[in-house]
Amino acid sequence: MRDASSPGSVAVPPGVPRRVRSEEISAWRDLYRHSLRLGGGWLLRGWRHRWRGARVGLCRLAIPLDPWRYWELGRIAGERIGDRVLDVSSPKLLASYLSRIGAGEWVCVDLFDAEIDNWRAVDPTLDLRVEDARQLSFPASSFDACVCVSVVEHIPDDGDTEAMAEMWRVLRPGGVLYLTTMIERHARDEFIDRKIYGAASEAVGDRVFYSRYYDETTIGSRLLRQPWRVEQVERVRQVNSALQRRFVDWRPWSYALGCALRWRCPDNFAVVGAADALEDGEEGILYLLLRKPVDDGGDRSPSREDRTERLSH
Ligand SMILES: C[S@@+](CC[C@H](N)C(=O)[O-])C[C@H]1O[C@@H](n2cnc3c(N)ncnc32)[C@H](O)[C@@H]1O
Repeated sequence: MRDASSPGSVAVPPGVPRRVRSEEISAWRDLYRHSLRLGGGWLLRGWRHRWRGARVGLCRLAIPLDPWRYWELGRIAGERIGDRVLDVSSPKLLASYLSRIGAGEWVCVDLFDAEIDNWRAVDPTLDLRVEDARQLSFPASSFDACVCVSVVEHIPDDGDTEAMAEMWRVLRPGGVLYLTTMIERHARDEFIDRKIYGAASEAVGDRVFYSRYYDETTIGSRLLRQPWRVEQVERVRQVNSALQRRFVDWRPWSYALGCALRWRCPDNFAVVGAADALEDGEEGILYLLLRKPVDDGGDRSPSREDRTERLSH
């Protein structure tokens, strides 16, 4: 298993952050430009589609990338992804950019139908479908790769575990899953007061489930039930977390500065050795590159020791 981003990189001991080098996520520049191109194209075609997709179209112009996405999307866009790729509810900018440059044939799903409708107006070339990640309609072994950025933590109950099993099923043996998710030092669930993802948001009493934050134990117990081969694992924190916090707290006024995030965000990440290295209540992101082994297609459940071992450095 490789730690960090590049072959030969030095393993990071828990608690010692390593600043992310800008070349590790340099693809953010192409994503940023592609976002502006998409937004501009949407604007020019506006009279034809009667401004359908306005939320996504305007967002592409105002906030080409959210603070965390500089790292998450920049990181994955630099990988050599497979020929036939399933995008499971990730920000569609990634699939749109990679399919535009000919890096794979993409199918994009999301359970939030308004998001799919919006993207149909913004990038009419994408194959977009409304699907539940817990119950995909595709036959077994139909994709070379799956990409799932910032999604599994938003699926309520055991939906994250079910989605992982589905991605395992639709990947061919030897296929790869690129996954990111939120982590904290201690696992917790977050609830909000409105359904922001349509049918994908689930009410729990008078609140709505928003997100799960994984700790080192729940990464293994909830996400790694199948015998994946963990090829890369990386956990990052933001060096200046106030940037993200203010961006979120000062919405919608902060959107006016969305394009300016490019001057601060690409240099704002540091790799940490484990979620335990985060401060109490500090958010981090986990990136996993998981391969479905060619020689072990069984649904053997690994032991807890197995899972911990596969994630350790
Ligand atoms: C944080 S968002 C990820 C990116 C978002 N699509 C964007 O463009 O920024 C989480 C996404 O997961 C989707 N989602 C949640 N539960 C889902 C499920 N069961 N099946 C498919 N998608 C789901 C939501 O609709 C939402 O679009």
